[in-house]
Amino acid sequence: MRFSRRVQGLPPYLFAGIERKIAERTAAGRDVISLGIGDPDLPTPARVVGALAQAAADPTTHQYPSNQGEPAFREAVASFYDSRFGVALDAATEIVPLLGAKEGIAHVCLALLDPGDVALAADPGYPVYVTGPMLADGAAVPLPLRAARGFQPDLEAISGADLKRARMIFVSYPNNPTGAVIEDDFFARLVAFARAHDLVVVHDNAYADITYDGYVAPSFLQTPGAREVGVEMFSLSKSYNMTGWRSGAVVGSADLVDAFWRLKTNMDSGMFAAVQRASVAALTGSQQCVADMCAVYQRRRDLLVEALRAIGMRVTPPKGTIYLWVPVPDGYTSASFTEQVLEQADVVVTPGAAYGACGEGYVRLSLTVPDDRLQEAVRRIEERVRL
Ligand SMILES: Cc1ncc(COP(=O)(O)O)c(C=O)c1O
Repeated sequence: MRFSRRVQGLPPYLFAGIERKIAERTAAGRDVISLGIGDPDLPTPARVVGALAQAAADPTTHQYPSNQGEPAFREAVASFYDSRFGVALDAATEIVPLLGAKEGIAHVCLALLDPGDVALAADPGYPVYVTGPMLADGAAVPLPLRAARGFQPDLEAISGADLKRARMIFVSYPNNPTGAVIEDDFFARLVAFARAHDLVVVHDNAYADITYDGYVAPSFLQTPGAREVGVEMFSLSKSYNMTGWRSGAVVGSADLVDAFWRLKTNMDSGMFAAVQRASVAALTGSQQCVADMCAVYQRRRDLLVEALRAIGMRVTPPKGTIYLWVPVPDGYTSASFTEQVLEQADVVVTPGAAYGACGEGYVRLSLTVPDDRLQEAVRRIEERVRL
């Protein structure tokens, strides 16, 4: 069978390889601690599960849903954006459900790029910022994120040649994998930059409410002029431990939301209506569950930071996301340290270079395992890996 150049050119999906390695070692009887994939270990709040059960028992949810989303779903997203971010969205024209932010990130490229066009993509960044443009026969040009600039891209350093071909820009804060957050006027500068260069901003807001130390993350859409130049990919996955449910929304520019919806009507038939109703329960009910979960992650973050520092590793505690972005010890690359930690300690971390060339020199550790497993992971690294 001959496959398209598009598919042949795709790199292997990072986590598919990691899952395989975990499965192999577990099958061989080893006790593997995975700090690799960022998949919350805590359950979805009971009231959300209850809403799903009730909705699933209602036969009116069993048919094709509207892929523009049930009005109640769009209104729930609008009311959440209003109360959480002070952003007033028109539920009729500025919101369309997504089967997770990942779907939005991949598909928005089909709405914005023609062959040869470019997406400027945060590096290190979520891998789909690179593969999404490839699937649209475009390309991603990396936007380096460096610690010295707080992991914000230097917009002024983008070359004229790249800007000429660029149609869109992917950024995400709170940031995976670096944990960086926005505490200055970056979004305002981004809006001005997008206007000046006729770029569409796609802000991936997958970690909107996973924050610590009292920090509250803004929506890109809070920035004056933002919705004229872009959209935000909003996700319920991390805030409500709903990664398996595939629920999110693309919100912002009515023109782009409409184009996105027209595209989607040709690719999927919308989000299961019962999941839409459960998502309404998540977004409109008490948000205490989110605060409780952040408290758990914050405790794990502090514990892991302290344990890593105690064995001589340099770590900055992040104010958001469920990751620690840790420089590897001297003498290692991100891949060789990852390999050693797996081979010697049966601990899975992800190599920073898998998130882009600028991730070299780092590994990412996920906070999605219980305290005792985090402690055990660090103990094994200390005992078995040359640091
Ligand atoms: C930065 C970022 N964007 C998007 C996603 C995907 O989110 P969803 O589950 O809503 O597809 C993830 C998942 O880990 C992520 O880290």
